[in-house]
Amino acid sequence: MFNQKNIAFAPEEQVYYPDISFSARANVRDARIYDWAGMDYEGYWAEEAKKLHWYKTWDKVLEWQHPFAQWFVGGKINACVNCVDRHLDSWRRNKAAIIFEGEPGDQVVLTYQDLHREVSKFANVLKDLGVGKGDVVTIYMPMIPEAVIAMLACARIGAPHSLVFGGFSAEALRDRIKDAAAKVVVTSDACWRRGKAIPLKQNVDTALTQCASVEKVVVVQRTGSEVYMEPSRDLWYHELMKKASAVCEPAMMDAEDILFILYTSGTTGKPKGIVHTTGGYLTGVTSTHRNIFDLKEDDVYWCTADIGWITGHSYLVYGPLANGATVFMFEGAPDYPERDRFWELIEKYRITLFYTAPTAIRLFMKWGESYPAGRDLSSLRLLGSVGEPINPEAWLWYHKHIGREKCPIVDTWWQTETGSVMVAPLPGLVPTKPGSATMSLPGVFVDVVDELGQPVKAGESGYLVIKKPWPSMLRTVYKDPQRYVDTYWSRFEGMYFTGDGARRDKDGYIWVLGRVDDVINVSGHRIGTAEVESALVEHPAVAEAAVIGRSHELKGQAVSAFVTLREGIAWAPELEKDLKNHVAKKIGGLARPEEIICTWELPKTRSGKIMRRLLKDIAEGRVLGDTSTLADPAVINQLMQQRLTPK
Ligand code: PRX
Repeated sequence: MFNQKNIAFAPEEQVYYPDISFSARANVRDARIYDWAGMDYEGYWAEEAKKLHWYKTWDKVLEWQHPFAQWFVGGKINACVNCVDRHLDSWRRNKAAIIFEGEPGDQVVLTYQDLHREVSKFANVLKDLGVGKGDVVTIYMPMIPEAVIAMLACARIGAPHSLVFGGFSAEALRDRIKDAAAKVVVTSDACWRRGKAIPLKQNVDTALTQCASVEKVVVVQRTGSEVYMEPSRDLWYHELMKKASAVCEPAMMDAEDILFILYTSGTTGKPKGIVHTTGGYLTGVTSTHRNIFDLKEDDVYWCTADIGWITGHSYLVYGPLANGATVFMFEGAPDYPERDRFWELIEKYRITLFYTAPTAIRLFMKWGESYPAGRDLSSLRLLGSVGEPINPEAWLWYHKHIGREKCPIVDTWWQTETGSVMVAPLPGLVPTKPGSATMSLPGVFVDVVDELGQPVKAGESGYLVIKKPWPSMLRTVYKDPQRYVDTYWSRFEGMYFTGDGARRDKDGYIWVLGRVDDVINVSGHRIGTAEVESALVEHPAVAEAAVIGRSHELKGQAVSAFVTLREGIAWAPELEKDLKNHVAKKIGGLARPEEIICTWELPKTRSGKIMRRLLKDIAEGRVLGDTSTLADPAVINQLMQQRLTPK
C-alpha cells in the first residue's frame, strides 16, 4: 500500500515530493507505520529485531531504569553471524559484500563467502594472541577491507573493538588505547593519501611507549613502507593469516554485551568512550539502513565516511552487511588524481545509493558542475547526507547535479551516541524540504523543547531532545556512568539531551541548527573546544587559550583560537604556525586551528568566565552581543581593532 505522509504545505514552500515510481517500489510504503510505531514502540522495535538471526530470543523487549536501558533482555546473538554467516545459505554467498578500490586504483572484491573465510581466520589470529570475550582491541587503520575484517573478527569472538580514526595523532591514539586498556592493536604500515604514504605504525610505536596494557600489535602491509617491528610485540597480518584456520565458532553473545567503544569529543578535554551493545545496536542500524536507503538486493551502496567514525561503523559495516548489501569502499581523496574521482567511481561501479557529508558537497560545488557532468551518474537512485546541517543551496546542487533531479535526498540526523539515524525522511513517504532532516523515524521520539523542557511552538527554536529510549542508544560512557548521566540526562528531566539546537516549522519539520554546547563541528567531525584549548596551553609560549567554532564556507565550522602569551614571548607568524602544528600533533590534523589570534587578555566576565560568545561574534564579523558583563571592555576594543578578516 502506498500512502504518502499527508501534510498541507504552504504553496510558496519548496517541497520535493517522492516520485510515484520510487514510492510504489519503496521498502516502506504505508505511512501508518508512524502511527503504530508511535503507539507501541517496543512492539515496533521487536518486529525489526526479529528480522535478525538470534540464537535465543529475548525475554523482555526493554528494561528501562532511567536513564539506563537494556534492550532485548536475555536474547543471545552474534553481530558477525548476522553480517556474514547468515548470508551463506543462499545464493548471496557469492554476492559481493565489499568492493574496494584503493587510492592507487587497486581493487579487491570480497564475496560474503570470502568475507566469512577472512573474518574467521582473523578471529582465530586474535584468539591465538590471547584475545577473549570482553578484551578490547584497538583498530587504527585506513579505509581498507582489513579494517572491516578486523572489526567483524572482534565481533565474532566477543571482543569489543575501539576504532581510532587514522587521522588522529599518536597522542590522541595513546589516550584512547589507555582509556580502553586495549590488549591488542591492529594497524597498517601506512595509508595512501594523495599519492603519499602516510605512516600509521609509526604513531602506534609512539603511542605504545606509554600503554602498558598492549601485548601485541598486528600490522597490515598496505603501502610497503619501511616500518620498525618490535620483535616481542609486532606481527605481520599476512604472516599470521597464512597459518590461521578458516573455521571459527562464533561466540554466543548476550544482547547487552558490548559490541564496541567509540570515542567522541564532548565539552571537557577528555574524549568519551561511547558504549554500544550488540542486539539493540544491530537492530537499529539494520532497520534504519534498509528503510532510509530503501536498500534492494541489487543495489551498490557507497558511504564515503571513514570507518573510524560512527557513520563508518553503522552504515559502512554493520547496517549494510547485516542487510546483505554490496558495499563499495574507497581509500582515497575526492580530488586525487582528479576532481572527478568520486564521479568516476560512481560511473565505474554503477553505484546506486550514495551517502556523503555536506562539507564534501560544498567542496564539489566550489569545484563546479563540469566534473560530475562529465560522468555517467545515471545508476544513482538515492542520495544521503550526514554529519552537519546541509544548507539549502548545497542540497539543491546535490539534487540537480548529482541526483539529476530524480533521486530523493535523505538528510539523516544522528550522533555517535544515538548509534543509528533518528531524524530522516522515509524516502517513499515523506516529502522533503532542502535543509530539513524532516521528522523522527518510526519508533523514535525526537522533539524540540524550550529551556523548561516544554515543546516549542511551530516556527520556534529550542533544544533537540529524545523522549523515549531507542534500541541503538549508547548504554553508558565507558568506565564513567556518572558522566553518562550528567552529559545526556541531566539537562532536561526525563529526556536525552543531544547538545543540538533545532527549529520546528509549522508543518512539524525539524531543522537542526547545530551544536549549542562547546563542541565544534568541522567538516562533520566533532572537536571539543576544551581539547584544543588544553593542547594550546601545553605549549610553552601560551598562557591562556579560548577556542570557538566560527562559520566556514566549506567546513561548516572552523576552529578559531584566541591566545594570550607568557611573559616575554613576542607574537610572530612563525609562532602562529608553530602553535597550529602543535595542535595537529597533539590531536590530529582535523583540529588544526584555521587562525590563531593573539591578545593581551581574553574577554571575561567579572567572575572570570571566558566569554566565548563574544569571541564568536568577533570571529564571524558580527555586531557584538551583550558586553555589559565584561570585566574589562578594553579587551574587546583591542580585538576589534585587529580587523580580523574571516577566510
Ligand atoms: O550536531 C549534530 C551533527 O553532528 C553531531 C554528531 O556528530 P557525531 O557524533 O560525530 O556523528 C556524526 C555522524 C552521525 C550532531 O550532534 N549532525 C549530524 N548529522 C546531522 C547533523 N546536524 C544537522 N543535520 C544532520 N543531518
